[in-house]
Amino acid sequence: MVLSTGTNKIKTAVFISGTGSNLESLIKFSKLNKSPISINLIITNNKLAKGLKHGTIFKIQKKIINFTNKNVAEKKILLELKKNKIELVCLAGFMKILSKNFITNFKGKILNIHPSLLPKYKGLNTHQRALENKDKYSGCTVHIVNSKLDSGKIILQKRVKILKKDTPDSLAKKILAQEHKLYPKAILKIFSL
Ligand code: GRF
Repeated sequence: MVLSTGTNKIKTAVFISGTGSNLESLIKFSKLNKSPISINLIITNNKLAKGLKHGTIFKIQKKIINFTNKNVAEKKILLELKKNKIELVCLAGFMKILSKNFITNFKGKILNIHPSLLPKYKGLNTHQRALENKDKYSGCTVHIVNSKLDSGKIILQKRVKILKKDTPDSLAKKILAQEHKLYPKAILKIFSL
């Protein structure tokens, strides 16, 4: 595996709230020579987020931001992004909805990964809803974030077959495994355009 120092790469911040398995896969991807991005900052609203350990392991700066006052929180984040010259934000299981003001004030791209085949099942409980509707397929989507929830331009999607025996948990696991491949692929696609 070829590793690169990341000095000329697009400075990226990843926002998380929980486990951070997508964060881990993005960090590993960022270390490959072919990756256009480096991960320079991790932002979370949750000081107990398990994913913060990846910041410690890979020596990436972490910032825990209290969201009691969203306006104040977003101002703090924008400052951090500016200070660290961040050009790309990847939302990866970030459970706060960013305001229109934040989105227009950040002068870079914001991407999100969502566990459904958008425009189906925006918001939460996507796997449960796909199963209840007896869908044959679900999957995941990487899209650009705009001011409407889970509605920005779609970059890439991956379909996953739903089996009769699937539960919300088993479906989530299968889809998550695909998310780990799809996010890096979508980043490669965007920056090779
Ligand atoms: C993923 O399914 C992602 O699509 C959704 O939240 C989950 C986060 O998982 N937005 P992880 O924290 O990356 O493991």
